[in-house]
Amino acid sequence: MKRIPVIAGNWKMYKTKDEALAFIYAVNQDLPAKEKVETVICAPSIFLRDLVKRQGEELGIGAQNMHYLDQGAYTGELSALMLKSYGVKYVVIGHSERRAYYNETDETVNLKLKKAIAEEITPIVCCGESLDIREAGTTNDFVKVQVEAAYQDVSKEEALKTILAYEPIWAIGTGKTATPEQANDTIKAIRGVLASIYDQETADQVRILYGGSVKPANVDELLATSDIDGALIGGASLQADSFLTLANAALKK
Ligand code: PGA
Repeated sequence: MKRIPVIAGNWKMYKTKDEALAFIYAVNQDLPAKEKVETVICAPSIFLRDLVKRQGEELGIGAQNMHYLDQGAYTGELSALMLKSYGVKYVVIGHSERRAYYNETDETVNLKLKKAIAEEITPIVCCGESLDIREAGTTNDFVKVQVEAAYQDVSKEEALKTILAYEPIWAIGTGKTATPEQANDTIKAIRGVLASIYDQETADQVRILYGGSVKPANVDELLATSDIDGALIGGASLQADSFLTLANAALKK
């Protein structure tokens, strides 16, 4: 079965309202059909309502985080139910910036993953190692622990509704991209972890993206590999022309 590629932008804490709207109007007409490439913009939560209202046929809108509970006294947080009620279809879970600065743990990643699936929001679950781990040669062991924890008590049917993103921390926002071979090897290893939790057929169907300094200049070589099914893109997703180039590059996949 062919895996439909995914090109997901992660805007992080960038853009004003006017810039966000200008971007949507600029990309709407020129994105590939969603049956060929799934395109997503994961925006700051304050923009989500406006973006959902104006998204074209082909684009999905995602959040960058959510809480794992339905409601409660959690100042500043958003629930999956809130996202769902606004038509938000994707959510990034366990981004390394949230793990580093906002106490995201393997345990909360697992709780959020299960909640997102229960509310029919597609989770884009992030994993990835630091430079120390890469240099120590223990990357595969490290991501295995992250992936096993994220998918604990997640059934095979539920796992098929998720997207994974392998993002080596040392490559995020640094201009230092993993080589296509490094990224593909680790993503193959992640697929192996899914095969051991579920089975090979399931592992072969889950989309696994690469993230970390992906840009128009390197996207082709990354997507030409066997196991990289798309990209989660920070900096290069902020400009409409760059995002369109990345989205259309995935048509060759
Ligand atoms: P980058 O960010 O493309 O700016 O490296 C990727 C990410 O953090 O998802």
